[in-house]
Amino acid sequence: MVAVVARTIELPSGFSIPTLGLGTWRLLEEEGLRAISAALAMGYRHIDTAEMYNNQEIVGRAIAGYERAELFITSKVDAAHLHYDDVIATCEATLLELDTDYLDLLLIHWPNPQVPMPQTFDALAHLIDRGKIRDMGVSNFQPHRMRMALEIAPQPIACNQVEMHPYLWQDELARLCQDNGVAVTAYAPLGRKHILEDETIRMIADKHDVTPAQVSLRWLLQKGCIVIPRSTSEEHLRENMGVYDWALSGVDIAAIDDIPHRERIINAEFEEFQEG
Ligand SMILES: NC(=O)c1ccc[n+]([C@@H]2O[C@H](COP(=O)([O-])OP(=O)(O)OC[C@H]3O[C@@H](n4cnc5c(N)ncnc54)[C@H](OP(=O)(O)O)[C@@H]3O)[C@@H](O)[C@H]2O)c1
Repeated sequence: MVAVVARTIELPSGFSIPTLGLGTWRLLEEEGLRAISAALAMGYRHIDTAEMYNNQEIVGRAIAGYERAELFITSKVDAAHLHYDDVIATCEATLLELDTDYLDLLLIHWPNPQVPMPQTFDALAHLIDRGKIRDMGVSNFQPHRMRMALEIAPQPIACNQVEMHPYLWQDELARLCQDNGVAVTAYAPLGRKHILEDETIRMIADKHDVTPAQVSLRWLLQKGCIVIPRSTSEEHLRENMGVYDWALSGVDIAAIDDIPHRERIINAEFEEFQEG
């Protein structure tokens, strides 16, 4: 029997997030517009953007013409804008750029130890109360910071978006989030292509007649994550959607868990930054 993976996960607002989304970092200008439009045309309904990506207008152009209620749009406030008024201003600017009335999810992109966390969460909660965002969340929060956040947030934290792929499974963090009803979104779910040549991944892909990218995404989905792979290629966009109608066995999952290679791809200074 094929292990079933949910296509959506309900967030604290009661609205649901699709478990497959499109990452849009570096999707810029005409190439970006083409990729996002192609993804929407083939059925993607969850788009991940950020203030920092400088592409929110392009996302706005791509989503124009789609029923807003059918889409799930995540954005992220830059670490430099976590003071109360800056969060509100960033959200307003994001809504203008996207040409939409609300965001489904707004995340703190990176923690900023210079700004007291409660004021950022108060601003996000205010945005929920005003209907500007449906859910609020965090990104790049390690366990110690996540625990603090869970204690002080005035509204539930819907999501923690963190680096996760076969070369980096953050088990303590995943358990903490899952135990507290916080959805985990795996960013760089293909390890920015580093995992695609891995021998174990390739062997499992051949066995199931799928691709290494599909194995990585399916492994993350079976571990309960949301995945947001990015691509500019129509072939890859389509391939990355093919993750719901087949399954990894327990043995496959254990084999991927046991890959000895460990690598944090985004920001090698991560731990020092977190403690800063
Ligand atoms: N919150 C954060 O701090 C944070 C940090 C990093 C990323 N993110 C989010 O996560 C998203 C995804 O992460 P990412 O963009 O860094 O990396 P990724 O999705 O792991 O990898 C993207 C790379 O994989 C290639 N690719 C995609 N599908 C493929 C396939 N089926 N076969 C072979 N190659 C494939 C793409 O090239 P082609 O264009 O040629 O397909 C691209 O070079 C970002 O776009 C962003 O939205 C968030």
